[in-house]
Amino acid sequence: MRFSPLVERIAGYGVAAWDIHHEAFEAQRQGSDVLILSVGDPDFATPDFITEAAVGALQAGDTHYTDIAGRPDLRQAIAGRYSKRLGREVSAASVITLAGAQNALFTASLCLLQAGDEVLVLDPMYVTYEATLKASGATLVRVTCDADSGFRPDLQRLEAAITPHTKAIFLSNPNNPTGVVLNADELQGIARLAIAHNLWVVVDEVYESLCYEREHVSLASLPGMEERCVIVCSLSKSHAMTGWRIGWLVAAPALVAHVENLSLSMLYGLPGFVMEGALAAVLAHDEVTRDMCEVYRRRRDLVVESLGACAQLKVLKPDAGMFVLVDVRGTGLGSLDFAWRLYREGGVSVLDAAAFGEPAQGFVRLSFTLSEAHLARACERIKAFVGGL
Ligand SMILES: Cc1ncc(COP(=O)(O)O)c(C=O)c1O
Repeated sequence: MRFSPLVERIAGYGVAAWDIHHEAFEAQRQGSDVLILSVGDPDFATPDFITEAAVGALQAGDTHYTDIAGRPDLRQAIAGRYSKRLGREVSAASVITLAGAQNALFTASLCLLQAGDEVLVLDPMYVTYEATLKASGATLVRVTCDADSGFRPDLQRLEAAITPHTKAIFLSNPNNPTGVVLNADELQGIARLAIAHNLWVVVDEVYESLCYEREHVSLASLPGMEERCVIVCSLSKSHAMTGWRIGWLVAAPALVAHVENLSLSMLYGLPGFVMEGALAAVLAHDEVTRDMCEVYRRRRDLVVESLGACAQLKVLKPDAGMFVLVDVRGTGLGSLDFAWRLYREGGVSVLDAAAFGEPAQGFVRLSFTLSEAHLARACERIKAFVGGL
């Protein structure tokens, strides 16, 4: 069979790292006592009032085609929230709803990039970015964020990677897997480069509501960013709605209209009942996310403190998100080897963080999407495994 090379499976480390998750998931399904810390799917149920809004809509017959760019009241509600966050008026014409942040990233990639373009990414990066960006035909240029700097971006390195072919920078802020949240200097530095070199900046903010140290500042709120910054976000993480597949893109209205053309041929609108649930979720954003953020903060602190007591491990305390990176080089094992042995000998599945990029070689990523009791058990198992090496 002959296929077009438009989308290729992520190769190498990316694939190998996920095998462990699939195996652990299957083992758990068969009844094995495995603690799965290898995926970022919240363990909470979606809040009832959101589900009820969707069920009510379904029962009322909301089962037909809908507006391609999303229902006007939902776009307006999202725009209203961004008007507050960005400190400027954001209109509904700047918002298009899509099937989750992943779909929004893919859409942005196809709408902004083409063969011959170069796109800069901060490495390590979320694991699907490679395939998502390469699907456009553009060349991916990885800009290393060193482990020694706590995986913070190096602006000089970013600038040095810019060529006449550079079209865009794609990044997630907060970052998955590192949990780094860009500070004021980093945001300004990226904005300055984008303006000076006329680049798009696509910023994936799916963990924006899970910031533990200070309020999240969107790159799109900086002067000069209104026309060139594209925000990608979703309800997956913030409202425990990964399976609903709803997210959005916020950008200049002209780009949103362009995106709508692609969405018309690719998605043809989201289910109406999903949008009704989403509307309830967006309108209650602060109430829902405040409580979830507190739960995740406690879990993060538990993992950091517990594993911090283990001399062979170095724990990188994340400022945001639902993941902790742990440097396992002190154990003498490579990170992929560590992950497999921990799974087989300790019954805990974690990911080799090298799947997210070469700079994270030697680190594993743990998600804290389990209860505190389960996390405490997982940490005990990890420490027992390391102690036995
Ligand atoms: C940084 C980042 N972006 C996007 C996604 C995908 O989010 P969604 O479920 O909204 O497609 C994830 C999921 O883990 C993520 O970590």
